Amino acid sequence: MKFLFVCLGNICRSPTAHGVLEDKLLVQGIDWVDVDSAGTAAYHIGKEPDVRTQKIALSHGYDLSNQRARQLCENDFFEFDQILAMDESNLQNIIALAPANSTAKLQLALNITDSSLRDIPDPYYSGEEGFYEVLKLSEAIADSIILKLIQDH
Ligand code: 4NP
Repeated sequence: MKFLFVCLGNICRSPTAHGVLEDKLLVQGIDWVDVDSAGTAAYHIGKEPDVRTQKIALSHGYDLSNQRARQLCENDFFEFDQILAMDESNLQNIIALAPANSTAKLQLALNITDSSLRDIPDPYYSGEEGFYEVLKLSEAIADSIILKLIQDH
């Protein structure tokens, strides 16, 4: 089972969701699930996650320093079972890039949780509280995914 988180730049939201889920899977001993992240834009290819993203994640025990930004590519639509968009605009960008015979399920990441929120707000121009919200929502997403994995397995 393979999950791909996708945002715009792949330096704030999707790396957080990626790192949090990876760590929580490790804690649960679930070794049959792969996680990755990507951005729809090319601005930040090859860069580490944003320093503000790394700082808030690390203060909660998640080390994102090994991640490097990459752009969503055609192969992702066949390699991943689920492509999870961080907001509605990301989802529309993903749909626009999707090949007609894509096999991945495309949906909003928060759709997996029971949150009434649909979008994880872009924190890039926000203060620290925006990055904290991304982290908390990423934890909720990871917990919901793991619950479903355990129930379905
Ligand atoms: P992300 O945040 O999509 O969560 O990685 C952003 C990062 C960079 C930009 C926008 C959003 N940017 O405009 O450069």
